[in-house]
Amino acid sequence: MTRVIDGRAIAATLRARIAAEVADLVAETGVRPRLHVLLVGEDPASLAYVRTKEKMAREVGIDGRLERFPGTIGEARLVARIAELNADPAVHGILVQLPLPPQVRTSAVLEAIAPGKDVDGFHPLNAGRLATLSGPPPEDLLVPCTPRGCLLLLEEVLGRGGLCGKRALVLGRSTIVGRPMAALLLAHDATVTIAHSKSRELAEECRRAEILVAAVGRPGLVRGAWLSAGAVVVDVGINRIRAADGTSRLVGDVAFAEALGRVAAITPVPGGVGPMTVACLLDNTLRACRARLAAEGRGSRWPRRSSS
Ligand code: GUN
Repeated sequence: MTRVIDGRAIAATLRARIAAEVADLVAETGVRPRLHVLLVGEDPASLAYVRTKEKMAREVGIDGRLERFPGTIGEARLVARIAELNADPAVHGILVQLPLPPQVRTSAVLEAIAPGKDVDGFHPLNAGRLATLSGPPPEDLLVPCTPRGCLLLLEEVLGRGGLCGKRALVLGRSTIVGRPMAALLLAHDATVTIAHSKSRELAEECRRAEILVAAVGRPGLVRGAWLSAGAVVVDVGINRIRAADGTSRLVGDVAFAEALGRVAAITPVPGGVGPMTVACLLDNTLRACRARLAAEGRGSRWPRRSSS
């Protein structure tokens, strides 16, 4: 029997804990965490994502704000707005939705965000701290949300410490998912391989994996026959497939129906990794707010909990 990992339910539990902690923080300090989301352009998928982030923030008591800019905006104007948000003590988390239009350098924008407000964990300082970790990340490190969500799902199935010594394969080497995912798995003592579009013998690499995280954005790339019995599969792919009759549906990077009955556990698409990403973003916003208050000598009590 394959366990279908219910990301929606696990994310709801995480959000309930965040909501309780936000309520405690507001009661103790009078400070409400604020998340500022910046969206450039009109891409419908990006707009849907940021609206979800804003709505979920509000549901846990975080002050989520969305600011939109025309797709023609210049890099200097966007960077100047980020500088204002960096300087605003009421703002604890800043997120610039990617991708950005070609006239704006993504690296310039991400490097402009103050590392302490970088709730995406994409600033080179945060990425560097993650890359050089020995052991699980400390509470005050802002780790990219999708990989952290994947890690929490893996720990839900394998238990704490359950990654130790396991052969893990990460498909995809993006800075948003693949690379930070590999760093997190390594920090939890897995034996990590990263495969990508130039890798040879992908099927063979997959067969060896006890843990597989697929993040390549290619619908159904990973076939059921590539997976080993007993593998735990986390599918990060969100690919929209259009049928001839004009309807569309979302599928992952793994051929889900083929994997069912073969692997030990797998995340569905939708309803697997996606809700965890948003929950981890809210958690990062709360962490960023706490770290700021602690640095100011206010409300420095961190709830004791795991730091995966
Ligand atoms: N676009 C796709 N995924 C992400 C993400 O995790 N963060 C941001 N900022 N943009 C994205």
